[in-house]
Amino acid sequence: MKVTVVGAGAVGATCADNIARAALCQELVLLDIKEGLAEGKAQDMMQTAALLGFDTRITGSTADYAKTAGSDVVVITSGIPRKPGMTREELIGTNAGIVKGVCENILKYSPDTIIIVISNPMDTMTYLALQSTGLPKHRIIGMGGTLDSSRFKYQLSQHLGCSPADLNAVVIGGHGDTTMIPLIRMATWNSVPVTQLLSVDQQKQIVADTMVGGATLTKLIGTSAWYAPGAAGAALVKSILRDEKKLFTCCVSLDGEYGQKDICLGVPVTIGRKGWEKIIDIKLDNEEQAMFSKSAEAVRSMNEVLKTL
Ligand code: 2OP
Repeated sequence: MKVTVVGAGAVGATCADNIARAALCQELVLLDIKEGLAEGKAQDMMQTAALLGFDTRITGSTADYAKTAGSDVVVITSGIPRKPGMTREELIGTNAGIVKGVCENILKYSPDTIIIVISNPMDTMTYLALQSTGLPKHRIIGMGGTLDSSRFKYQLSQHLGCSPADLNAVVIGGHGDTTMIPLIRMATWNSVPVTQLLSVDQQKQIVADTMVGGATLTKLIGTSAWYAPGAAGAALVKSILRDEKKLFTCCVSLDGEYGQKDICLGVPVTIGRKGWEKIIDIKLDNEEQAMFSKSAEAVRSMNEVLKTL
């Protein structure tokens, strides 16, 4: 198996590190346009192999896409990250050109690959990847909801005093501070509804903190977060390469599901060897459905911007 991670910045490198540690593939290529960056980080990671005991061969490349040939999965993290006070949406002008170029180069050498998009604004970049490559929809996966759901579990765990791994909770909709929808009504702690354990105020706080999860970290760190985004990307790579068919929230092309068409948006999907395989069309209540439609409207108007670039 072979995986390529495009972008050797903090998110890309963390994603690659997680993939290598879990020994998910024999070959792992890290690619960046900055001279020497990917080679350096790849070598640094390889120097952990003897300590950690993995056999994945990690190589770096400065923009030489020939080295990525025959990748089963490609994770795209390229683009500029947001700075404190910036929204993910403000990155569109710069990142759209970068992501489109990356997709073209990747497909020259790996026409059968599955693409995972992490670059922001993630919903629009996923839509762009789908439109510009013309790949079957099942092979284009946006990572956002996987990360947001993990952040939701973290917030819940802080109030419940429990292990995040014992929680089931999903965030659907867009990967934006105002477009994501943490479905607290459906969240459970090992099957116990969390709504029975938390006050209404606590529930509101958890939802609000989840929605600004990325912005909070950007403010604290001074740039966009990377540990959880990188781990989320690697979790999807694992489910694909091992054909786990795990259920994640991912940004995928909708064709009538959740009442939406011609858009990529976060919904629960199974992830396996063919990419995203099945959408779970949850029955939302009226309020949740209205939020989903509003989220779709916001993402759709962001997608419109692509036409003007
Ligand atoms: C985040 O929310 C990178 O969009 C990513 O941290």
